[in-house]
Amino acid sequence: MAKLLTQKLEQLQNAFYLSAEQVREIAEKLQTEMTGGLSGQSSLQMLPTFMQLPAGSETGTFLAVDFGGTNVRLQLVELLGQGQYAVKKQHSCRLKDPSGRYDFTARETTGEALFDFLAGQIASFMEDACAASLGLTFSFPCRQLAANKAVLLHWTKEFQTSAVIGREIMSLLSAALAGRGLAWLQPAALINDTTGTLLTAAYSNPHADIGSICGTGHNTCYFEAKAPAMIINMEAGNFKHFPLTKYDRLLDSNSRQPGAQLLEKAVAGRYLGEICRLILLDMVEQGLLFRGKIPALLRQQQTIDTSELALLAADDTPSLLHIDRWLAAKHNIYPTTLTDRQVLKKIALTVILRSARLVGATYIGILQQLDPGLQRPHVIGLDGSLFEKMPGYLAKVQELLQEIFKDKAERISPVLTGSGSGIGAAIAAAVCADK
Ligand code: GLC
Repeated sequence: MAKLLTQKLEQLQNAFYLSAEQVREIAEKLQTEMTGGLSGQSSLQMLPTFMQLPAGSETGTFLAVDFGGTNVRLQLVELLGQGQYAVKKQHSCRLKDPSGRYDFTARETTGEALFDFLAGQIASFMEDACAASLGLTFSFPCRQLAANKAVLLHWTKEFQTSAVIGREIMSLLSAALAGRGLAWLQPAALINDTTGTLLTAAYSNPHADIGSICGTGHNTCYFEAKAPAMIINMEAGNFKHFPLTKYDRLLDSNSRQPGAQLLEKAVAGRYLGEICRLILLDMVEQGLLFRGKIPALLRQQQTIDTSELALLAADDTPSLLHIDRWLAAKHNIYPTTLTDRQVLKKIALTVILRSARLVGATYIGILQQLDPGLQRPHVIGLDGSLFEKMPGYLAKVQELLQEIFKDKAERISPVLTGSGSGIGAAIAAAVCADK
């Protein structure tokens, strides 16, 4: 590798790598922000959810509607008690059609149109499904008014749909359901996806006290045992006390809400591919890659998604064959040198590693805040595409916990809850029905 390229890569890795000392500093800052957030002075909103943890004995069949960042997923969930559940039926649809026929996340769409689309999907789903009530997971910052009512405070994850901010979400859904003849479907609970993940983990494990998502967006909640005891939705994606690189600043200034959600923009699926693209573009412009020729797609925003990032990071073939094929098929760059491809892989790994260490640093802060000295076991329920699909991601978070907590890391179990964000809506509906 040419000297200049080696130097550049080293600079990049230094800018993105978080040492154990930096991780400790970030964790401490997060603790300060958690305290500040509970009194309203912080980058963390620390939203009360009024939701308790389940006993694990709740039963019943519920429709779970999971409104996330990219998809809406409908699930007919039967809670069997003893921490067991069965998904009887499920259906997923995208909020933005990849071929451009519709986009319910855009400013041109209204809340009414969005919820009518959702109600239409629910109407077809319920044709051969039986449930009397529904739980809705709505993965955005909301002010909770009651267990089944919450007002959207603002959009995140680049959503722009008009006429939803400031409105009560369950009423929008109920009105749309009534319009489709489904007024009988009882709206039992409305929760954030992190809450759903924690509820799912806690349904089968009494030590679960943290729930976290790293998918399109990133956020974490935890169970606050001090009165008034309840789950707190931290809106952790808005945390900002960590080192930003020039690429983070560029991505932020190109985003729809500059200055907001800085942690989310550094760690979540909606943004990781874009960070990678900005680094690549910079390197090509400096003549360090692809013989200095800029592929057209690299000039356009959002042209690398997280699954492609996973492909770059996971190519273990000696000649980096998968990366070669991806460059040829997607970017029309052929032939490429092995060095080009090695650089691409390094960039992807660097961006992914920082994401995992940043997310891990926030868990360290939360754990220290909940249980200084780590006296008891903790289960962290996890959901989202990064945890589920990014090779090695969860292992990197676990390694960091070991690096910082040493032997005591054994007391912490990060567990994948497998669509916990949605299942949790059914558990929340059952918890509310039992009251
Ligand atoms: C965004 C939302 C948050 C959600 C997270 C994960 O950060 O603001 O509410 O939990 O994405 O979907």
